[in-house]
Amino acid sequence: MKLPLLTILAFASKSSAFFVAPASKISSNSQVLNAVSRKDSYDITVLPGDGIGPEITTATKEVLAALCSRSGMKLNLKEALIGGCAIDAKNDPFPDETLEQCRGSDSVLLACIGGYKWDKNPRELRPETGLLKMRKEMGLFANLRPAKVLPQLVETSTLKREVVEGVDVMVVRELTGDVYFGTPKGIDIIDGQRVGYNNMIYSESEIERIARVAGDVASKRGKKLVSVDKANVLDVSQLWRDVVTEVITKDFSDIELSHMYVDNAAMQLIRNPKQFDTIVCGNIFGDILSDEASMLVGSLGMLPSASIGESGPGVFEPCHGSAPDIAGDNIANPLAMILSAAMMMRYDLDRPEEAKLLEDSVEAVLEKGLRTADIKQDGDNCELVGCKEMGEAVAEFVSSIKIENEITA
Ligand code: IPM
Ligand code: MG
Repeated sequence: MKLPLLTILAFASKSSAFFVAPASKISSNSQVLNAVSRKDSYDITVLPGDGIGPEITTATKEVLAALCSRSGMKLNLKEALIGGCAIDAKNDPFPDETLEQCRGSDSVLLACIGGYKWDKNPRELRPETGLLKMRKEMGLFANLRPAKVLPQLVETSTLKREVVEGVDVMVVRELTGDVYFGTPKGIDIIDGQRVGYNNMIYSESEIERIARVAGDVASKRGKKLVSVDKANVLDVSQLWRDVVTEVITKDFSDIELSHMYVDNAAMQLIRNPKQFDTIVCGNIFGDILSDEASMLVGSLGMLPSASIGESGPGVFEPCHGSAPDIAGDNIANPLAMILSAAMMMRYDLDRPEEAKLLEDSVEAVLEKGLRTADIKQDGDNCELVGCKEMGEAVAEFVSSIKIENEITA
């Protein structure tokens, strides 16, 4: 049995560490995204990918093992290949068998892909092409990227305390359209010189469905939605603005909708991030703004994400890349992947208590003063730990901490 989108998005609220809200606030004007309803045992495809991927995966698996022991839930974790490792093994960045395995799973947990080794490959043999193929083939059109500043990490941001303290922004990024997938595209010789081009294109229905997801998310949070575009220059953005306005004014009348040009949004995110609650944008603007938003939080190593479609399993992955320069050095931060696993619990597996347990354990470890290199500050009196040690510490809290205000199913 599948749960309706709004049951799932009901958890995308501001009220807890990442997203918790009463499922009763469900409105009726939504399309349906599917999630598995609560079970005792789930099949999860794990994609460790490249670079730091395998080590953050190992740390996350340790945390998930602790979670299973505590909750009695069973996770059947089965690994598969994507990205550079898939190119090396199968000459394909997203092999058919990986797609089949993902489709047959309850959910997919991905680490990260890419590396210098494959950077000069033809595009069809680049790790990023595998990631894009996965998003497209699995219909993952909605990408939720929360940037919430944890009190323990306020000083980690390069911005002033008064600017970032209390920031809690959700970027809803469209993920299967735009200039990422538009055709025609290519590099041709025109009049004796090379000309490169991609097509920034959105259909009405693509804009409408992401606007609905954003409307749902915003209505469970602060009811403030900023739609980002470049409508002063781009026709595709004018359509974006028109359709978002139509959907939100018609079906989400309690939401305060405003529009912002992307250049201004980039500036406002740094100037006064607290003005934002939920942001909706197309694929490329969301790619850029979500990296920017991560710097409010202090490190890209802290940002999880959820990619969800109309049906089938979602994919949960950190927003960061594969950091090949530090791969294998045990200095990567596994927390974004652990928090992505929390999003998987909540959005795909109908396990909000387990999600909260993971999020609380991450906060507890930070409260205890453990820091990986990316979130360590000179003179912060915190203890520098490696990826493995960070995973072990989170696992220990998962096994032992008491949960206040635990959500009951
Ligand atoms: C992201 C990444 C990807 C993207 C790359 C690796 C293709 O930057 O998930 O934000 O551009 O979407
Ligand atoms: Mg990106």
